[in-house]
Amino acid sequence: MERKNAAYEWSKIREGEVTLLVPSQAIAQKEPPKFPAFFNPAAKFNRDISILIYRNYIDQSRKNISFVDSMCGLGARGVRVGKEIPQIQKVVFNDYDMISAQTAKVNTIINNVYHKSDFYTSEICSFLSSRVNFDNRATIIDLDPFGTPAPFLDCILRAVENDGMISITATDTAVLQGVYPRVCYRKYYGIPLRTRYSLEIGTRLLLSCTSLVASRLDLYINPIFAHSYRNYIRIYCKVSKSNYLANKISDKLGYILHCFECGYRELMKKSPSEINCPLCQKKMRMGGPLWISHIFEKNVILKILTGILESETRMTQESNLGKLDMNPNKRFFEIASRELDHIPYHYNSDEFGKLMKNSTHPLSKIIDKLIIDGYNASPTIFSSTGFKTEANLREIKSSLSNL
Ligand SMILES: C[S@@+](CC[C@H](N)C(=O)[O-])C[C@H]1O[C@@H](n2cnc3c(N)ncnc32)[C@H](O)[C@@H]1O
Repeated sequence: MERKNAAYEWSKIREGEVTLLVPSQAIAQKEPPKFPAFFNPAAKFNRDISILIYRNYIDQSRKNISFVDSMCGLGARGVRVGKEIPQIQKVVFNDYDMISAQTAKVNTIINNVYHKSDFYTSEICSFLSSRVNFDNRATIIDLDPFGTPAPFLDCILRAVENDGMISITATDTAVLQGVYPRVCYRKYYGIPLRTRYSLEIGTRLLLSCTSLVASRLDLYINPIFAHSYRNYIRIYCKVSKSNYLANKISDKLGYILHCFECGYRELMKKSPSEINCPLCQKKMRMGGPLWISHIFEKNVILKILTGILESETRMTQESNLGKLDMNPNKRFFEIASRELDHIPYHYNSDEFGKLMKNSTHPLSKIIDKLIIDGYNASPTIFSSTGFKTEANLREIKSSLSNL
């Protein structure tokens, strides 16, 4: 009670094209407090990515495009959507915390998007259940909880339009990365693996769980984009009504076998029982079921890159300073455009330094060598030292042994 009555200081900050009123403590402290309202300045990068994905995913011919910020906090994402994506005609803000929802309202006023905004202060599932009739559904719904999104997956899937989009954050990365495998199994229906690529496995477990919940509702998800970094995982999926595709969901799910002795890894379509590593013969451990298919819509990524390049060219011309490389998101999406996103695991360059008992090679050199030797290979956005390849561990070692 005392906490709620205390006087709090507020500051204005700039993020993207908006000005946000935020608690001063949120920008001063390393761990942003939940009172008087939650705001994480470090999440700017993932909000930047959201704007780029939503803007480039939207079908321009669609009418009445709406965005629901279902756990809005002080509205940072929704206000940016309202301001930075003019094609979105309606932004709906909901947070069961009154101070958060009120602050979101102030932020829409400051940024001149109040006229296209609605506000609610309900528990998310009761709020979204009031929007399941077809006139009321949203084109895009964002779900950004503290911790796991698992309890809310049904609600957002039931409230999104046919061929609309859901975006979901999970910050229970310890669970999804395998620190608490039993919790992961009951929340996400899958077994995680504590490996060097566990964030990618966690991302694909979240996709698999979302696809299973969707198929229970006769819906089918198609991943548009997914990424993760340290304490969060984010996925973007198109949601379509289709019994036919929902019946085929098992084609998109499978298992990873990982040998904890030598690092060998393999994709398995069916649940394997006792399997020994083909390289070192030790018993392997299994992770999954998880999403084993593509996780990026490459057309959307190419549109984003084209937009970034155009704005760089415009700014370079306007500044007269010669070529400027200004957009920090460019490199991220360049890597994503090359990533072999149908391969559900990656390797890290330093794994091979240790395995082959020599010094670590630069990532680009490793990828080039694999390609020269006839294997598809790419970097990955899941790790700055990671790479994907269709070569198996034995083939990678052989290829890199004469690098
Ligand atoms: C991680 S914060 C959201 C941050 C915000 N999306 C942003 O980009 O800054 C989670 C928010 O969800 C709200 N919340 C948590 N559980 C909720 C529930 N069951 N129903 C509605 N709001 C909820 C909290 O009050 C909090 O403001």
